[in-house]
Amino acid sequence: MIVKADDGAIAEAARILRGGGLVAFPTETVYGLGADATNGKAVARIFEAKGRPRFNPLIAHAAGADIARDLVQFNDEALALAAEFWPGPLTLVLPLRSASSQQISKLVTAGLDTLAVRVPAHPVAHRLLAAAGVPIAAPSANLSGRVSPTRARHVEEDLGAAVDMILDGGATEAGLESTIVAFSPAPTLLRPGGLAREEIETLLGRPLQDFSEMGVRSPGQLASHYAPRATLRLNAGRAGPGEVLLAFGPGALKGAMNLSWTGDLREAAANLFAYLRALDAEGPAQIAVMHIPSTGLGEAINDRLRRASAPR
Ligand code: TXA
Ligand code: MG
Repeated sequence: MIVKADDGAIAEAARILRGGGLVAFPTETVYGLGADATNGKAVARIFEAKGRPRFNPLIAHAAGADIARDLVQFNDEALALAAEFWPGPLTLVLPLRSASSQQISKLVTAGLDTLAVRVPAHPVAHRLLAAAGVPIAAPSANLSGRVSPTRARHVEEDLGAAVDMILDGGATEAGLESTIVAFSPAPTLLRPGGLAREEIETLLGRPLQDFSEMGVRSPGQLASHYAPRATLRLNAGRAGPGEVLLAFGPGALKGAMNLSWTGDLREAAANLFAYLRALDAEGPAQIAVMHIPSTGLGEAINDRLRRASAPR
């Protein structure tokens, strides 16, 4: 059930979460499917609803950095990143604290001794987290392997009755999931996302390692992920027979869906998942996607497109 995210709905959603229910809510990246991260039964319902492999750990969302600091051990660089970019589209993977006041369910961490934490910037997410009073585990609110939802109705299409409430806060702003940084101990980019690599590197004064350079595998790095039903052809010049075109930039033919006519990567990121869903709904055999540069948010856009085009 989709409900406009006003005060009454947020209070009701917080009650549902505390009672072990599932609430989908907007963040500045994508819609999340939330459950009380301290309640194993509630978290198990997330995996059921999404059809998600159990080994894939979840992000714990907190209302403020103080709550995150109670859950995990920060190092100096993590503190600097949190101070600069929280609330916002950045997730930090850090060692769980044994003496934290809230006991995070092992289903959230998939048994790892680290926890992914994030303080979202969206006002609805913030108010919901504050009202719930517990950290909320929330993956993107889509069926596992499908494109992430950037509108409340995308959640309804994918999950429908499996969710107790869908809080509608309009279209999400960033449109891409958060950037994930782990420390091993050097800061490492596990997933490019809504915060560009360059901004993080500038603050830290050193480059981020790539996850592929180290032994640790983020389970989110499954090759085929974020996939529409149609197959994808990347770096296309135009649509061929049986294809629809996902365009980018001022050079594209008029009439095609264009992620950004002006070639603005921020706008393209915000439109990406909604446009993939809309084109997919036309039922084409293949979606031809024009070239998108890999700078700034383009790194995350190309990451999602590569996964969506991977053989399944
Ligand atoms: O923007 C976002 O991050 C959205 C919104 C709802 O906050 N959430 C999201 O969650 O994208 P999800 O579950 O779709 O992706 C979480 C990623 C997965 O790739 C998972 O493997 C990784 O985070 N992850 C979680 N805990 C981890 C850990 N302890 N170590 C390494 N990777 C971890
Ligand atoms: Mg996801």
